[in-house]
Amino acid sequence: MNPSIINPYYDRLPGSYLFSTIAKKIAEYESAHKNADIIRLGIGDVTSPLIPEVIDAMHKAVNEMALKQSFRGYGPEQGYDFLREAIVRGEYAPRGIDVASDEIFVSDGSKCDVANIQELFAADVKIAIPDPVYPVCLDSNVMAGRTGSLDQVGLFEGVTYLAANAQNNFQPELPQNPVQLIYLCSPNNPTGTVLTRETLQKFVDYANRNGALILFDGAYNCYIRDDALPHSIFEIEGARTCAIEFRSFSKTAGFTGIRCAYTVIPKDLAKLHSMWNRRQTTKFNGVSYVTQRAAEAIYTEEGWRQTNEVIDGYMATAALIRSELTAAGYTVFGGEHAPYIWWKLPDGEKSFDFFDRLLARCEVVGTPGSGFGPMGEGYFRLTAFGDHERTKIALKRIKERL
Ligand SMILES: Cc1ncc(COP(=O)(O)O)c(C=O)c1O
Repeated sequence: MNPSIINPYYDRLPGSYLFSTIAKKIAEYESAHKNADIIRLGIGDVTSPLIPEVIDAMHKAVNEMALKQSFRGYGPEQGYDFLREAIVRGEYAPRGIDVASDEIFVSDGSKCDVANIQELFAADVKIAIPDPVYPVCLDSNVMAGRTGSLDQVGLFEGVTYLAANAQNNFQPELPQNPVQLIYLCSPNNPTGTVLTRETLQKFVDYANRNGALILFDGAYNCYIRDDALPHSIFEIEGARTCAIEFRSFSKTAGFTGIRCAYTVIPKDLAKLHSMWNRRQTTKFNGVSYVTQRAAEAIYTEEGWRQTNEVIDGYMATAALIRSELTAAGYTVFGGEHAPYIWWKLPDGEKSFDFFDRLLARCEVVGTPGSGFGPMGEGYFRLTAFGDHERTKIALKRIKERL
């Protein structure tokens, strides 16, 4: 094969995907230490089983598939109306947010939606990306050739980075260079911090003033404990003319393995709404009926209660990590409205070095902050998705051995 037929932009990505690098390090440690008892507070995967309401709905849907009269084949590419309507009723209407069911596109994950959405935009649009953030936003644009090369400091040429750190209280400033696509993520992965109403309003006003578009990743919205904080970009005045929102059932309801998410494109953005519809109908064949019935089930009264009970459990673990690390004299951020705790490392310690130290001394695994962008250097991400009792053991080891 002639190498010139290959997309050259993939080679701009540094090394392998963050979590693969980490998995390799853990595997190496385990093969060198046969009796290792590793506690994983690293990868952002849920561990609680699906709630009974969801399981019941899935069983029922499977039984429907077993009968000729209720069997379903291909569903609508945009998602079944029963789910799109349940999302409006369960997520948006209670907060007085104006979103209609035909503005919701059900999918099999926010990861693919966040990555795929960029194909609706011109190759030369300029992007602004929070730093640090979930790597998919940036990497998908690198793959599409929308950035230059990676420089010495770990920044891609041509990308505007929106730094979020302790100095600015994790509220990024507006982009200093002209940009047309702005990614925002709140509650943020990895910092676990939330963008305030004032910050979001500033970005929405900027976008409307400059003809830019905000791509708002709200995968963790259900973890926000404070009703006064914005849960959706569409709570912000003017957002319907400049924003798209991504949400997922992964962290809301433990669907990381089941796969279901949705993207909201307001009809005010008529061109993008119809383009995404075209994109999905051409390239996507919908989420399974059983899965959509499962997702719908979290919005019954009992389903919502059970869902929140699981989230409360994770948040109790987040509170424990926060309080134990703080009591041990460490500085931590996040973890109050998100399942992530952003641990400030001792001055000068590199986050990948800390990963190795934590693994070697405590057999605890977290995620190096630098994997989420250069501003993540000097920080470390712990997650509250692990088993509560195992997390307690991990914290005890950290206090005693680190
Ligand atoms: C910010 C953010 N967005 C999206 C996703 C992916 O969600 P999904 O499982 O729906 O693909 C994640 C998963 O970790 C995430 O952290």
